[in-house]
Formats: sequence, C-alpha cells, structure tokens
Amino acid sequence: MIEEARGERSDAEAGPKGSGHGSEADEVTPKRGVLSKYLRAKVRHFLLTVTADRMTRGGLSRRHRAQNVETRELELRIPRWPTQFDGLRIAHISDFHVGHLMTSERAIDVVNTVRDLKPDLVACTGDVVDLGLECGVDGVLAALGAVGAPLGSLLVLGNHDHLDNGRKLVRMAKAAGVQTLVDESVTLTCGLRVGGIDWGKSIRECSTRVGRVWRGAGGVDLLLAHNPKAFVGAARLGVPLTLSGHTHGGQVSLRKRSNDISFRRRLRAGLYRRDDSILFVTVGLGAWFPLRVNCPPEVVVLTARSE
Ligand SMILES: [Fe+2]
Repeated sequence: MIEEARGERSDAEAGPKGSGHGSEADEVTPKRGVLSKYLRAKVRHFLLTVTADRMTRGGLSRRHRAQNVETRELELRIPRWPTQFDGLRIAHISDFHVGHLMTSERAIDVVNTVRDLKPDLVACTGDVVDLGLECGVDGVLAALGAVGAPLGSLLVLGNHDHLDNGRKLVRMAKAAGVQTLVDESVTLTCGLRVGGIDWGKSIRECSTRVGRVWRGAGGVDLLLAHNPKAFVGAARLGVPLTLSGHTHGGQVSLRKRSNDISFRRRLRAGLYRRDDSILFVTVGLGAWFPLRVNCPPEVVVLTARSE
C-alpha cells in the first residue's frame, strides 16, 4: 500500500490530494473573546516567560532551546484500521509554539528531521505559533509544505493558533502547500479518509465537531484534533485512530517518560484505547512556559498496523 501511495505522489507540494468534505478551509470558526484571550496570553507570556527569563539572565530560554528533540518510532496495532493501509507511516508533530521559546530556525530544523524520516504522511496537530504570526511561521509552513511526503502534510489548529489570526494562518498554510482541516475531511489519493477538527475546549464541543466531520465524510479512518478530549466522541463513533497534542505531556514529569506504549488512564501523553478506537497523544515540540522536565520534545513516526 505504501509503495502504491508513493507512486501516486506527483505534485504533493500543492498539498494532500483527494476530494474534500465539509467546510472551506478559510471558514475558521470565529472565536468569541479572542482579543481578551490574546491579551491575557500576552500578559501571561510576559510574566511567566519574559520576566522569568530575565531573572535568570536568559538562562531558562537558552536551556529550553538547547534540549534535544527525540525521534520515536512506534508501531500501532489498530483494530479498525483498514487492511489496505497496513504499514502506513505517519509523522506526528505538534505544538511548535513558534515564538519566544521556539525560533523559526529550530522549528525548520525539526521539520527537516521529519523530511529525512521519509514518512508517507505528515500530521501536525496544532499550536504552530505561540502568540502572534510575526514570528517566522511562514518559513516553518513552507518547510512543512516541502517535506515531500507522498500523501502530503496536514494541519489542524490549536488554541494558540487562534490567539492572533487563525484565518490568516490557514491561508498561509494553504499557500505553503499544507492543507488545514477545519471541521472537514479529505480523502487522500490512496483512499485514506482523514478528518480534522478545529480547536474545541470541552468534550462536548469536540464531540460536536467530530460528529460534523464524521457525518460529512460518511466516516473517517484517521482523525486529527489538537485537544485529546476529541477522543471521547471519536471512540463513540468508532474512528480507528485519533492523533492529538495540546497537553505537552504536562511539561514536568516526576519520572522520565518510559518508552513503553501500554495503555494509560488519562489523556495526557501516549497511547490510549477505548473499545476498538486508539488515541495517540504526543508531548509535542515546544512550550509556552520555559520548563520541560523529564518530558523532552519529540517527533513521532507511527506505523499503523491493521489488527
Ligand atoms: Fe500547545
């Protein structure tokens, strides 16, 4: 199947190929109280990041940026995964938070690492930017669009992506060849149906969005959602695989994360199962607070196996 998918790759730089279902990409759901959220986020950033960093004479951000990005390869046995997509390799990245703590240069280096891993598909589950769009994110999106994965690069927005101008970010991604799924789905050239939902805060909001996408497409094989709470609705509908970020793994962990992929109880990081549906939550790459302890940034390549 992978060879077939690669063979179909002819002009993926223009974004994932296939027929879309749902809303137009530009129709990012308007967010109520965006301005106040943006201002609150800026104040929080000033107090918790800028001030804390100044007090340590830049030590916090220097140490933060010096962390190595781990590359993890995981093979997932997925009960409902269609057999024709057995062996599909998905590079899952999330939560760059390009800005003060994540320079665009560092983010582009990460994307180049993803490119070198030669995945079939790149899935970015949001929070590309930390605050504003004037952070070099255009270069990061250009790199994402140029990865050259046979099935392209897909993106869903996170809560931070909406702080400044979510609509503009979607347009920038589209121009760079990265398809953003805003409560919509796309059927890729290999036949894989991928749905993506916009940022939703609660289980209820996420479930509504997931249901909308599911009905519009007549079912999806893979769901991208920034908030792992989307898994509740996804599992109810029987979505085989959901990919999420948002939690940063809590950023501070008492114990170093183990590499096992046993099913865990809380939707914080790692692999979860509900009935025959699987969720993977990455700890992501960046942060909005300059501290990650026992929670290194990561790029994950998932090989999806039919069970
Ligand atoms: Fe985030």
